[in-house]
This record gives sequence, C-alpha cells and structure tokens, in this order.
Amino acid sequence: MIRDFRNVLMTISALFLALPSAAHAADIDNGRQIYDTYCTSCHGAGARLDPSSPVIQGLGVTPADFSDPLFNSREPAADWEMVIKHGGHALGLSEQMPAQGEALDDEQIADVTAYLKSVVDTSAFPPGEMNLMLAIRTKKAFPEDEVVYVGRYTEQDGDNAFKQVLEYEKRIGKAGQGIVELVHEREGSVSELAEAEIGYKHAVSFSRSHVLSAAAVVAIPIEADGDGELQTYLAYGKVLSPSWIFQSSLRLKFPFEGASDGEAELAGIVHYVHSPWPRRVFPALEIVATNPFRSSNGDLEWTAMPQVRIGLTRGGHVALNLGVEFPLSDQSWDQRYYMTLLWDFADGGFFQGW
Ligand code: HEC
Repeated sequence: MIRDFRNVLMTISALFLALPSAAHAADIDNGRQIYDTYCTSCHGAGARLDPSSPVIQGLGVTPADFSDPLFNSREPAADWEMVIKHGGHALGLSEQMPAQGEALDDEQIADVTAYLKSVVDTSAFPPGEMNLMLAIRTKKAFPEDEVVYVGRYTEQDGDNAFKQVLEYEKRIGKAGQGIVELVHEREGSVSELAEAEIGYKHAVSFSRSHVLSAAAVVAIPIEADGDGELQTYLAYGKVLSPSWIFQSSLRLKFPFEGASDGEAELAGIVHYVHSPWPRRVFPALEIVATNPFRSSNGDLEWTAMPQVRIGLTRGGHVALNLGVEFPLSDQSWDQRYYMTLLWDFADGGFFQGW
C-alpha cells in the first residue's frame, strides 16, 4: 500500500516536476575553447569587454560585459543560448551579434554559455532565471529594474471605479530593490491622485529554481482621506518544471489609524510556459484570499483571476498582462478587469526589439 502510494507520488512528480533534462552536463573547459575561437574578437579576452578595441568601436553597439556580476547574474542562461544560436536579432538585440547555430551545435552552445556564466562570481546576486512573470496581485520576488502600469476597472453597484497605478522599481545593491508607486482613483465624479507608496524589497533566499523576498512599503495619502498604511509582504517564486511556474505572496496591511483594521492577503498563481520564445501568449490562473484582521470567518474573500501574459517585444522585456477577476465569495463588486504593462528597462529601451 505504502509502496503503491510512493509509486503514484513519484509518477506525479516525474510528470509535473520534470527537471530540465540533465542529459548534457556542460563542459566549461570546452566552452572556454569555443569562446576563444569564436567570441573573443568582439566580447574580449577572458570574457572581459575591451570597449577601446577597434573591433568594438566598429560595431556601432557595445556588447554588455560578461565580467560584470550584476549583468551576468540577471540574464537567464536560456536567453543567452537563444541569442548565441539564432543571433542578437532573435531576441531584439543588435544584428551585430551573429547567429552561431550553423557553426556550433546545442551542446557546444550550452558549454560556451556555462563558461560565460562562470567568468565572475555571481553567488550574491539572485539569478535572472528567477525573474518570473509578473502577476496581477501576487507580488514578484525578483528585484528587477522595471516600470509597470496597472489599470483596474471595477464593475459594481453604483458608479464603476477605475484605478491606475504607476510603479518604478530599481535594483539596489546585489539583492535589493527600491519601490516608488503613484495611485490614481476615479469613481463617479471623484477623481484623485489617491496615494504615493515608497518601499524596499530584499531577496533573502534564492537559487536557480526558487526566490524568496521580504518587503515593506509605506502608503502616504495625497488627495485621499486617511492616514496611510504600512504594507509588508513575503513573495516567493518557484520553477516547478521547464513549463510550470508557481508564485505566491502573503501581504499584511496595517493602517496607521488602527492596525487592527488591517487585512491579510494570500495570493498564488500558476503560469504555463509552453515556449522558450518570449513573444507569445502565456496563460495563468491566479487565486487570492483576503481576510480582514477583525473578522468573523465569513469575511474571508476569495477571487479567481484567469489571465494571459503577452510578450510584445522579441526579448519579452515589454509585456502586457490582461486578466479578469471573478469573486468566488460575496463581494460588493461584480467583476474587475486588469491591464498591466511591464517594461523591464535593464534589458533595453521601450521601443527596442518590437
Ligand atoms: C562580430 C562581433 C560578435 C561576435 C563574433 C560575437 N558576438 Fe556576441 N554580441 C555582439 C554584440 C554587438 C552584442 C550586443 C547586442 C546588443 O546588446 O544589442 C552581443 C551580445 C551577445 C549576447 C547577449 C548578451 C545580452 O545582452 O544579454 C551573448 C550571450 C553573446 N553575445 C554571446 C556570444 C558568444 C558566445 C559568441 C561566440 C560564440 C559571440 N557572442 C560572438 C557581438 C558579437
């Protein structure tokens, strides 16, 4: 009986958690040789960029320096493999980066990528593999450089409401991120710049398959009534398999006027990644439970949010997320529609690579 149970569990985990194929263990020494033969002229000896070299000056675009640990850490190895195989153009970078798919096979490309990843110690930086898709409510754990616009339209009794948020987030140091947000709200004849938020997030634990961050944000009312609030959250991301991504966050809100009037929000989302190409439509399902601190059990609110992420640029550094939120428990509103526009500005200008 126990053995049956174990077999079932192992089968399920083999199906669902299938790890990236370990068929080829990358050979860094081989990667170094490939690099010395094919790449040094542009990317520099020892993967250290020499911006003064005549070759680089003739390219008209300066490649990033692989020996810079922040840059090296935040680009996923899989993206580099695609750029090396298909050329810079494939992911919205310069055509000066030539496709090597004819000269090198997939194993050689994996080897040279492993070599590039080995040229500098990035162990204190969260890896770019953990820069997971941005969800609507679930907080993101990865400390990215990004500008995000969120529009939310609520259909409800009385006047429908429209809320807009503009976020600016910037990496601070190795694993931190500063957060600035502006919130605008409109309901009936009231239209106001409701509040500003300022905060800090830090990745406290990470690997190539998980990331956990803690954050604190202070919301200060601008035109809205009230005293503002403190929000704290934990955000977690996990790559379950090459095709499945799970993210979750637990957020606590404490109004300054009375912390016991606050609430807890637990959110989780599963994304299906069916293609390595970023300019695709990726479906996801998000579930959120909100519980006021001062609650009888009936106050627990559940909502479900089917959504899609649409990569707009070839490298996916500008992406749209569209979703609908449905109440699963009693709610004062009928439905909410969300649109999120994300620009990951570390990966290039807004108009690059469309
Ligand atoms: C003719 C010059 C040239 C050669 C040869 C070349 N590259 Fe590049 N590579 C570039 C340029 C230029 C860029 C920057 C493109 C951009 O930022 O728009 C680039 C970008 C890249 C990137 C993407 C970095 C990022 O910004 O995410 C990778 C990875 C890369 N090259 C790897 C290689 C490897 C590996 C080789 C050898 C097999 C190689 N390159 C050979 C010019 C070259």
